[in-house]
Amino acid sequence: MSEDARWLAGLGEQARARLPREVYDYVAQGAREGVTAGEAAWAWHGHRLHPHVLRDVTDVDLSVPVLDGRAGVPWGIAPTTLQGAVHPDGELAVARATAEVDGLMVLTSNAGVTVEEVAATGVRWWLQAYLPSDRTLAIPLLRRAVAAGAGAVVLTVDTPVVATKYAAERAAVERRHPDLVGTNLELAAPNAEKALDLGPHDLDWLRELTGLPVVVKGVLRADDAVRCVQAGAAAVWVSNHGGRQLDRAVATAAALPDVVAAVGGRAQVYVDGGVRSGIDVVTALALGADAVFLGRPVMWALVEGELGVARMHREIGVQTVETLRLAGCSSVSDARGLASPAGLRSLAQAADLQ
Ligand SMILES: Cc1cc2nc3c(=O)[nH]c(=O)nc-3n(C[C@H](O)[C@H](O)[C@H](O)COP(=O)(O)O)c2cc1C
Repeated sequence: MSEDARWLAGLGEQARARLPREVYDYVAQGAREGVTAGEAAWAWHGHRLHPHVLRDVTDVDLSVPVLDGRAGVPWGIAPTTLQGAVHPDGELAVARATAEVDGLMVLTSNAGVTVEEVAATGVRWWLQAYLPSDRTLAIPLLRRAVAAGAGAVVLTVDTPVVATKYAAERAAVERRHPDLVGTNLELAAPNAEKALDLGPHDLDWLRELTGLPVVVKGVLRADDAVRCVQAGAAAVWVSNHGGRQLDRAVATAAALPDVVAAVGGRAQVYVDGGVRSGIDVVTALALGADAVFLGRPVMWALVEGELGVARMHREIGVQTVETLRLAGCSSVSDARGLASPAGLRSLAQAADLQ
């Protein structure tokens, strides 16, 4: 293992040492007992790769087709609030570093910077949205995002209510950083109740309002994935919100194969949750994901600002290329279908390694 691989693996510990306690806790924590948050990363160890050999892997192409073009790398930035609490340059540092690798950034609707500022960095970006009970309250931000050049809208559907967390409520962080929230918030209707009655018709509404492809984030079941496709979703995003919503929700590494099979190529499939290395990225791609998203690793890298996020992209890139070469793949699409669930014995060994 190189020094650099240790840097990536140790990011969380470094962040714990350097961030104020309530900021670290806010980012790290899961909902309730933290079962889902705790098992996300090791769940990827539960799959095994079936590598090809005797293939030319001199050149490896990391680019992938996404909804609004081709992204330079198959991993993107998942939407996370309060990036400015981790580093003063917050979302803009993440955007600049991600633009450098021609990557994709999904901007939370709770961002501490405006959509125009993010767009000005030149990064490919999509807007994540929650819908309030009164849908009309969401319209101003959505319109502004379209005007600023968002490439898609990501509707988060796993948050009818914000789940209870014990370590650090967001309000505690916001009290310490009152300047960091609210930039787009007056437009995102911060005080509005989140919708408890979201349904497939909301996808139509969003598509018609914005004219953009709609991604549904927070799907864990094959039958729901099919409902999303039937309702016109351009992509289904397998996520349990980093274990921050329904505790004891299934690991995304376990849910992904069924969703990929149910969608059957009719829409793109993305995944996030516990992806911490290039091997995790390739495992997700091998299971059929079209792209993979990172949440906490970005926050931990952001402790070192834009340079930290740039380094994270670099390290993930080096590991992803090495893994693809070892698996006999010269492109991301070559990896598709190369994974299968491990036997019980390997699963037990993976658990022992934790
Ligand atoms: C601090 C934090 C804030 C988050 N905020 C949002 C958000 O505003 N909207 C959203 O859809 N998901 C949000 N998420 C969930 C992430 O988009 C993503 O699903 C999750 O973090 C992926 O898991 P990982 O952290 O293990 O990579 C947040 C996650 C974290 C850790």
